[in-house]
Amino acid sequence: MDIVERIILSEEQIQERIKELGQDISRDYEGKSITLICILKGGLMFLCDLSKHLTPLVEYDFMSVSSYGDATESSGVVRITKDLEESIEGKHVLIVEDIIDTGLTLNYLLKNLHSRNPASLEICTLLNKPANRKVEIPVKYVGFEVPNAFLVGYGLDFKQLYRNIPYIFTPKPEYYEND
Ligand code: IMP
Repeated sequence: MDIVERIILSEEQIQERIKELGQDISRDYEGKSITLICILKGGLMFLCDLSKHLTPLVEYDFMSVSSYGDATESSGVVRITKDLEESIEGKHVLIVEDIIDTGLTLNYLLKNLHSRNPASLEICTLLNKPANRKVEIPVKYVGFEVPNAFLVGYGLDFKQLYRNIPYIFTPKPEYYEND
């Protein structure tokens, strides 16, 4: 595709790592059932592929959030635009995220979800961008550590597009330099 500057993670690399994560999670939750909370829309591809490798019983629920402030600089003030449909009280909850950047979104979500009294609450993120972290987040499962670059594909969007691309890439600067 013309927009692709460099492929950072190939489809094969992503799928191989997701299989390993699935095995780790299955071992850790053996004998329990897991409530997977997908943060829309970026976590959707990851949720589908990861959950195929989970042997415990799995329940899905979905949340959508938007952060106040401008799109490039996360303000840390998060608004829930779609809440969970089920109670998570007493459940083993695993948040499935596409990428952790500043950590501000998950910092808010963790506090919010903890207040609903789950039996346990952990995070599984496909990508971790530690260079930009503003608040410490306890992440149990990480797919890949990635550099501080704008990444697109496999759930990550550029202007709401390219989420369906099965690999992760950096876009050519001319695609976003006029924004
Ligand atoms: P945080 O609150 O800064 O950790 O924001 C995390 C959210 O920002 C992710 O769930 C993504 O939706 C978005 N995000 C962060 N980095 C990227 C990127 O490189 N490409 C696309 N979206 C990103």
